[in-house]
Amino acid sequence: MGREEVDPFGEQELRSSLKTEQLGKTIYLYPSLESTNLLAKQLAEKGEKHGALVISETQTKGQGRLGRSWHSPPGGLWFSLILRPDFSKLMPQHLTFIAGLAVVQACSKIIHSVSLRWPNDLYVENKKLGGILTESRAKGDRFEYFIMGIGLNVNLAENQLPEELKPLATSLYILKKEQISRAALLGDILLHWEKILNHYPHHGFAPIVNSWKKHADFLGAFVKVDTPAGIIKGTAVDLSPSGALMIQDQSGLIHEISCGDVRLLSIVRTPHS
Ligand code: BTN
Repeated sequence: MGREEVDPFGEQELRSSLKTEQLGKTIYLYPSLESTNLLAKQLAEKGEKHGALVISETQTKGQGRLGRSWHSPPGGLWFSLILRPDFSKLMPQHLTFIAGLAVVQACSKIIHSVSLRWPNDLYVENKKLGGILTESRAKGDRFEYFIMGIGLNVNLAENQLPEELKPLATSLYILKKEQISRAALLGDILLHWEKILNHYPHHGFAPIVNSWKKHADFLGAFVKVDTPAGIIKGTAVDLSPSGALMIQDQSGLIHEISCGDVRLLSIVRTPHS
């Protein structure tokens, strides 16, 4: 397939690729939306069920983490899932790890070198391939739903990236030099995701965080972490059992960070990688 022939990505292709029982059973598919997360939130507010999928060929106001915008031209996989898991059995902060693991497992069928960067990024060779935007709604101390937005640069050509993103971002198409079926990839992502969600109540978070760490590109590296409390530089030594990032600074002190953005300053690897 040449770049000009965009891979077919209609409801029919999607339905025949989905092998899940709950995720993606209801599909809202659009040629263009402001943001799939935004529509998913509106639908969830009206009571839309667990597993409903909102997907769009392009987004005009794609949202990234920390108020950033997300470049969403045609050819990418831009989607959001509404999740209403049984919160008595699942820690909400584990959902982003579950999503990342599902995406990396599905992508490894296409390319081996996709890695996870804490807490929610997908990278290949230090260039960003995708990201996860997790949003939630709670009433008092009770969660009502989660919106899990995934942006994955699938069939984006180099010339679809703005100049400022070219040194920082990549796509599966740029790496593989061939078009990837987004319907098949989405089907795989949702299948891995559902399996992990079903496994979790019986086996807990430990197997998930352990698998997640095997795909991490930052463990053992010297990193700079931008946190709400300021910047911390040090070696990323591990993730805690709950998924917090553990950084050892130059004085030997360990910082346990639960929210932030990681930048690699070196790529020294440890046996984790
Ligand atoms: C990040 O900042 O890395 C997270 C990016 C998440 C982008 C996706 S694209 C689909 C969904 N809809 C949005 O508006 N954002 C997420």
